[in-house]
Amino acid sequence: MNISGLQNEILRLKKENDVCILAHSYQAREICEIADYTGDSYKLSVDASRAPNKTILMCGVRFMAETCKILSPEKRVILAQPFAGCAMADQMDKALITEVKERYPGYTVVAYINTTAELKTVCDVCVTSSSAVKIVENIENKDILFIPDCNLGAYVAEKCPDKNIKLLNGGCPIHACVSVDDVKKAKAAYPGARLLVHPECVPAVCAMADYVGSTSGIMDYAQKSDAKEFIIGTEISIAEHLQYMCPEKTFHILSLKLICPNMKATTLVDVYNCLAKGGGEDITLEPQVIADARRCIDEMIRLGE
Ligand code: 13P
Ligand code: SF4
Repeated sequence: MNISGLQNEILRLKKENDVCILAHSYQAREICEIADYTGDSYKLSVDASRAPNKTILMCGVRFMAETCKILSPEKRVILAQPFAGCAMADQMDKALITEVKERYPGYTVVAYINTTAELKTVCDVCVTSSSAVKIVENIENKDILFIPDCNLGAYVAEKCPDKNIKLLNGGCPIHACVSVDDVKKAKAAYPGARLLVHPECVPAVCAMADYVGSTSGIMDYAQKSDAKEFIIGTEISIAEHLQYMCPEKTFHILSLKLICPNMKATTLVDVYNCLAKGGGEDITLEPQVIADARRCIDEMIRLGE
């Protein structure tokens, strides 16, 4: 069978079994094409909670599937590729943050959504890269403990100078690897191209960018901009998607370091296997974990609206 044959079979099976397919924008093009919803992690979590289907199939990473389960516990949520974790989400656990919180009494604990469901149970509010600044601005408390990404946290701190933001030493190993030197090389190779980066990049790299924003923010900016050439400073799949969306413009990847193996792990065949052969992993969470983690996701939706 070829790719389009497999895609047609997936479309038939998902309809037959009342499955809604979600694909994060870092997923391969052939997966985004058969998805009901695509987007950044914030959009996907809201889309999943509103979808009428009995089953949600997440093509993305584990914390995204857990977020869907927390928001829709009555639905069956399947992670298409069980090995797809997130290196950042696995950095900090509940025991560590419980201990750190004792050092910061009275602080509001703001967790990037790239955290485990278990860790969310001891946090106050979640944020995503597209909602972080707005949500932190809307929190009444001045004192914020921002976890786990110190680069996104530094970006938020710069945008919210009235807040007292404490950071921990975590972050995305993929985005954080990109250096000022990588940016200089890309700018020298493509002079005049606009540089768009994700706030998971280190502050020195963000400072060299024309735009800093979430995956959706980067895609919106590139589509609406009058500029014709761009360097994309996030997972390399975004440059490819943009090239299809805007064939008259030119998109370059910032660095080959920006390949997330976890996001690349899911294949179209995995999606087919989930629908046809019971593949993937059914996400199960303790009811108490769902209830406790839900508080901080509901807070995110309330403060982000
Ligand atoms: P977004 O919140 O922009 O979708 O990013 C998720 C992510 O994992 C970025 O590396
Ligand atoms: Fe996690 Fe980084 Fe991959 Fe995003 S790019 S899923 S933060 S490891």
